[in-house]
Amino acid sequence: MTYWMCDKCSFVIELPQPPDPCPSCKMKCAFNDVTCYTPDCGGIGGLDSRLVAERVMKKEKPGKVMHFSDIVKGSSSEGKEKHIPSIEMIKGQGKMGKDLVEIVVGREVPHPNTLEHYIVWIQAFGVKKDGHVVDLGREVFKPEKGKPVYAFEIDSSDFKHLFSFAYCTLHGVWEQHLEV
Ligand SMILES: [Fe+2]
Repeated sequence: MTYWMCDKCSFVIELPQPPDPCPSCKMKCAFNDVTCYTPDCGGIGGLDSRLVAERVMKKEKPGKVMHFSDIVKGSSSEGKEKHIPSIEMIKGQGKMGKDLVEIVVGREVPHPNTLEHYIVWIQAFGVKKDGHVVDLGREVFKPEKGKPVYAFEIDSSDFKHLFSFAYCTLHGVWEQHLEV
């Protein structure tokens, strides 16, 4: 599948061919392919976050050097109640005495879940006690199907910090941290 990003409103959608008209701004727009094609990097659910960041920044701040961190939103942004991934860890509740981690978007205020407006993925990382950052995987969601939840198990004694990103088709990438 291919990820397409509208040139006018930055709306991203996963389809075999670019949509016509744009489901978000309802106009006949140009769509850019923002799929990750690097097998080793894994992308984030196959979406190239670097390309998305570059295209958003090129439109909003022409000429500025672009970084992924520039477009990530956090607890001071509007709409945070629906978007920030909530990370909970339940110690000893996993298999073989491991710790269960559950990341939910919209735990208290549900996020919309329509074809045009939904949470596409939740990604998790952990910072180990030696400072090494490890990929803790991701869950990719389809629109109109259930609540965006990503659950996995870790041995929390290995980690000092967890962080998570979630991507909304209309409102971008959001982050949350948890000290272990
Ligand atoms: Fe949203």
